[in-house]
Amino acid sequence: MTEILGLSLLEAGYLVASVTFILGLKMLSSPDKARKGNLIAGYGMGLAIVVTLLFKEELSSDKWLNYTLIIAGLLIGTLIGMRMAVKVKMTAMPQMVSFFNGMGGACAAVISIVEFNHVQHGAAVDTGMMVVIVLGLIIGSVSFAGSMVAYGKLEGKVADKALPAGQMINILLLLAILVVGALMVASAEPQPNLLYILLAISLMYGVLFVMPIGGADMPVVISLLNSFTGVAAAFGGFLYGNQAMLTGGILVGSAGTILTVLMCTAMNRSLTNVIIGSFGGGGSAVRGDGVQGNIKEITATDAAILMAYASKVSVVPGYGLAVAQAQHTVHNLEKLLADKGVDMTYAIHPVAGRMPGHMNVLLAEADVPYPKLLEMEAANDDMSNTDVVLVIGANDVVNPAAENDPSSPIYGMPIVDVLKAKHVIVMKRSMGKGYAGIENELFFHEKNSMLFGDAKDSLEKLISEIKAL
Ligand code: TAP
Repeated sequence: MTEILGLSLLEAGYLVASVTFILGLKMLSSPDKARKGNLIAGYGMGLAIVVTLLFKEELSSDKWLNYTLIIAGLLIGTLIGMRMAVKVKMTAMPQMVSFFNGMGGACAAVISIVEFNHVQHGAAVDTGMMVVIVLGLIIGSVSFAGSMVAYGKLEGKVADKALPAGQMINILLLLAILVVGALMVASAEPQPNLLYILLAISLMYGVLFVMPIGGADMPVVISLLNSFTGVAAAFGGFLYGNQAMLTGGILVGSAGTILTVLMCTAMNRSLTNVIIGSFGGGGSAVRGDGVQGNIKEITATDAAILMAYASKVSVVPGYGLAVAQAQHTVHNLEKLLADKGVDMTYAIHPVAGRMPGHMNVLLAEADVPYPKLLEMEAANDDMSNTDVVLVIGANDVVNPAAENDPSSPIYGMPIVDVLKAKHVIVMKRSMGKGYAGIENELFFHEKNSMLFGDAKDSLEKLISEIKAL
């Protein structure tokens, strides 16, 4: 009776946890509910852990050893995870996601190895189970190795490196993975040697798959690897009959896949191009260098006059705003202009910055009201009524080459149409290129003026000049 009650509570706990994951994910789609959604899903995960510790039958054999190991693991993981999450800078978020994702992949691979050893020690050999073990091992190890390389690249510790005939080697490794995996499944007896060979080739494939990809393409790759980890975790859910793990894994797998596709669409690039295109990594990607002309500089005083006497100002935030950590300063500018009767909004390009929703998160941190954040299409519709566009640390997302230069690597990517406004001011430190490594003819356009300097310093100067008017 107690056993049945325990099992029912366990299943009920997993059901509630699964519901919180779905609710949490849904809430993440709107900025004002995202924080709450994250917390709800976090509580659900906590509940799943607690019911597992209390009611999972298998834990009662060798109780003390099991609980000591689990609690030690929880404590170490929590301490490291919390420390990293508290300390991380917003600009370093992609590498942290990659690191955590790699840990998830490693867990999935370790689960497969542990469960394989259970099969080996006398449990019934079941083909379905072996398929799940093999797939969990392959996907988990590829995701772990790939995520660690991605982490290293984003931290600047690993350089982009393509082996000669790298594509061929990768295809051969993939074939080897399929053959060894099929042999393990087809074999009547468990084959530990094959298991470790499969682990080694999958790890090697993970490294070589990510190694040549341009460091700047990492956000897309991380999202792809994230979906792999989700799928690998879902296999773990199958192995343990754990519905919470299954639902969580499927949600991560599908959300990661959708995000990968959305990012590729927003950049107008295919996933294959991201994976083998070496975009922004130099070489053929550095096109558009033929752009020539004169640039016009503007002083903070003149920019302040233009903006203070405008009726509508649109800010296009980009990666440089995040680097300069100027989100609070730009919000101060917005409040100051509002006091002077100027309507200032933000035009948010879907891939501005270096991670999905980067600009939304950054501006939300500074308490910019959500209605002020216009999606690119809405901002473009309003551009011809805009007096001044202030481009802050953005480059590729306002590059007209995306519309008029078919040889440009960003050709076809939708851009914020700043040239439809009356005046454009670009704030950046130099004539340096953006992520795609190409020149920007906007900087040479007659409507445009450059306000050189760190975005935060320039915004502060602009604010004091406007106050002095
Ligand atoms: P970018 O094109 O990367 O340009 C950023 C600009 O910021 C640089 O040209 C740099 O010029 C300037 N900058 C850097 N630090 C600055 C500072 N402290 N103050 C002022 N300016 C500073 O940025 P973007 O327009 O946001 O475009 C994003 C790019 O990333 C797109 O090509 C997109 O496809 C790619 N991407 C985005 C994502 C996601 S999901 N967001 C994922 C993968 C790839 P200076 O050095 O001259 O200052």
